[in-house]
Amino acid sequence: MKIAVTGATGTIGKMLVQELWGSDHERYQLLLFSRNLDQAKKIYHNLGISAGAIGIQDEHLQFEKWIPGDHYHLFHALNRFSPDVVIHLMGENIAEGSWKTAKKQAILRSRVDSGIELYRAIKSLTKRPSLFVQASAIGIYANGTACDICEENERECRSNSSNGNGATGSGSGPSFLAYVVRSWEEATAELERLGVKRVIARFAPVLSMDGGFLVKLVPYFKWCLGVVLGPEKGGLSWIHHQDAVSALIYLIEHKELPGGIYNFTSPKPTTNAYFFQTLAKRLHRPLWPFTFNFCLKLLMGQKGRELIMTDKRVIPQKLLDLGFIFKYPTIEQAIVDLIKRKEKSV
Ligand SMILES: NC(=O)c1ccc[n+]([C@@H]2O[C@H](COP(=O)([O-])OP(=O)(O)OC[C@H]3O[C@@H](n4cnc5c(N)ncnc54)[C@H](OP(=O)(O)O)[C@@H]3O)[C@@H](O)[C@H]2O)c1
Repeated sequence: MKIAVTGATGTIGKMLVQELWGSDHERYQLLLFSRNLDQAKKIYHNLGISAGAIGIQDEHLQFEKWIPGDHYHLFHALNRFSPDVVIHLMGENIAEGSWKTAKKQAILRSRVDSGIELYRAIKSLTKRPSLFVQASAIGIYANGTACDICEENERECRSNSSNGNGATGSGSGPSFLAYVVRSWEEATAELERLGVKRVIARFAPVLSMDGGFLVKLVPYFKWCLGVVLGPEKGGLSWIHHQDAVSALIYLIEHKELPGGIYNFTSPKPTTNAYFFQTLAKRLHRPLWPFTFNFCLKLLMGQKGRELIMTDKRVIPQKLLDLGFIFKYPTIEQAIVDLIKRKEKSV
């Protein structure tokens, strides 16, 4: 199976490629897109994944440079490789840096422009892929909804919610993230009209010790500075990286499954308080009984409100209905496993 991946050097991309490569690298031929080829090759070389090094033929692992805007290059690379599946993960990192105007533009444009360009390139291919998987985020859902949010009941949940404010950042005006996610998803919508099955993977924060917010939090807890971030009773949706990657491969491998929106979250969302209590307990560190939410809102502004002050319980109903089994459904299982992995790696 030929799989092209954009954003392949990111947290999810690296884990996905490692899993595909490790499970059966004779089965998959991979084309990895990056804006910086040397850096991408180095990243994969350091992970022990490089075509020549272990005698695997080059056709199983190829790298291509693609900077959005270079439509010509993208089209030719895809035409030459002729992928069965395209997985689109690229996008300016949302959590790094402050949300000044230029950063917000980059967050939006890197996703929307690349999506439109991929659509155009795929439209022009002689042989189109049968599946297009596009990363998305649960940032599209409203905070504080009255019920658990599934793929099908989002609208209903929102209208029954106490604040009824739609996808807003804690009642603080229209959410930038919801706008980004909506535009991001719309950018590739036309692929469906071309007969390409499109899966939208709405990721919750992915728990991993190789990247993402857990990596940033753990040192504070180790220095005994752990506190609850976000509203204590607020719902926290998350997914273990192994489940995120396994679910992606499940959808790639089961061609008969329907396209559309999939929530990539654990089936058991927790609360902010319980998440931080579990983290402190498993790291054998204290959790101080106060919060810095007011300061965070003040210091981080919109970014703090939209990324940290969240309250949403999102359920991966479609994956569950289709029989996908989560290896780490509870936050205890996920945190215990991630800490073990970290200890093994040092
Ligand atoms: N990880 C999570 O918890 C999470 C949760 C919800 C949604 N998502 C979404 O899922 C996707 C993959 O997540 P991730 O955590 O793997 O992302 P990531 O670690 O931030 O990596 C994304 C990749 O996109 C490329 N990129 C970065 N800035 C770019 C820009 N301005 N223009 C074009 N390409 C750019 C980079 O690849 P090169 O430098 O090699 O080009 C980077 O490796 C992202 O779109 C993210 O928003 C992730």
